[in-house]
Amino acid sequence: MARSKVTVVGAGNVGATCAHWIATRELADVVLIDIVEGLAKGKALDLAEAAPVMKYDLKIVGGNNYEETADSDVVIITAGVPRKKDPVTGQFPSRDELVKTNQKIVGEVARQVAKYSPNAVIIVVSNPLDAMCHVVLHESGFPPERVVGQAGALDTARYKAFLAEALGVSVRDIHGIVLGGHGDEMVPLPRHTSVAGIPVRELIEEDKLQAIIERTRKGGGEIVSLIGVSAWYAPAAGAVEMAEAIIRDQKRVIPSAVYLTGQYGYNGLFVGVPAVLGAKGVERVIEMELNDEEKAMLDKSANAVRSVVEVLGY
Ligand code: NAI
Ligand code: 2OP
Repeated sequence: MARSKVTVVGAGNVGATCAHWIATRELADVVLIDIVEGLAKGKALDLAEAAPVMKYDLKIVGGNNYEETADSDVVIITAGVPRKKDPVTGQFPSRDELVKTNQKIVGEVARQVAKYSPNAVIIVVSNPLDAMCHVVLHESGFPPERVVGQAGALDTARYKAFLAEALGVSVRDIHGIVLGGHGDEMVPLPRHTSVAGIPVRELIEEDKLQAIIERTRKGGGEIVSLIGVSAWYAPAAGAVEMAEAIIRDQKRVIPSAVYLTGQYGYNGLFVGVPAVLGAKGVERVIEMELNDEEKAMLDKSANAVRSVVEVLGY
């Protein structure tokens, strides 16, 4: 059987780490693309040179030419610019300016991906995540089931990591889910969180649980305040988990940004919900029963997503 092929666009922190973990899992051949040609080529070469030691046996190449990416099964888009000070004016761009800048970058990437890999499933990572999913859907012309955003996998991983640490148990035994957009209004669901099936509220005081929920919501900012730039290991882990589910047709249930057409009461909006990921991309959305409080939180999160999406002008 031919090996699968994954293209990762953006060879920065998240993109290069995706390539690294795809290689160590021997998931697929990898093409790393960046607008800075030497960056993608150099990181791909470095990863290929590690193969004899790490014992992965795949083709890993890099550059800035989309012809190399032809017929990829999965494309992970991490290209974008972070929010940083203008060196001349010393000002930060407004949120809307940043959305527009990344819309241009991600839009162009999506058009190239659609041209060279018309049957791929695209996993969007670039921020602002939920809005960039709309850009990719719009610019690729792909059906919604083949455009999916990585956010819930990361947000859920952070939530589980904090819970495991607080409870002194293995991360493997924490089950839980975070819904909503990738922002401060995301919706961790303690009512649906368990430790090996035991409801989490039987094991932790409410104030500690609420502190973990708050820390999860601010998880991205916590890393930025420590390192000065945003995270890459856990975001890449989330994206590669999704890529693996698709490539290996695993039917994994992974909270993902999915284009909703009425589910949970939202129409025409990417929102983080439990999705069954398999060879066709988003194969199904699971509609959980939410109580009034949970639904109100999800509404608030979806409204926050909508306000960013409006900036795109589609
Ligand atoms: P980075 O700055 O290290 O890498 C971004 C790369 O994109 C750079 O190498 C840059 O040269 C490249 N690039 C820019 N324009 C391009 C274009 N037109 N074509 C190809 N490549 C292009 O940034 P990092 O840390 O890797 O983050 C990447 C994106 O992912 C950012 O938008 C960031 O906010 C987002 N992110 C999203 C997360 C999520 O959970 N959804 C988590 C962490 C980061
Ligand atoms: C994160 O959550 C900034 O989206 C990025 O780490």
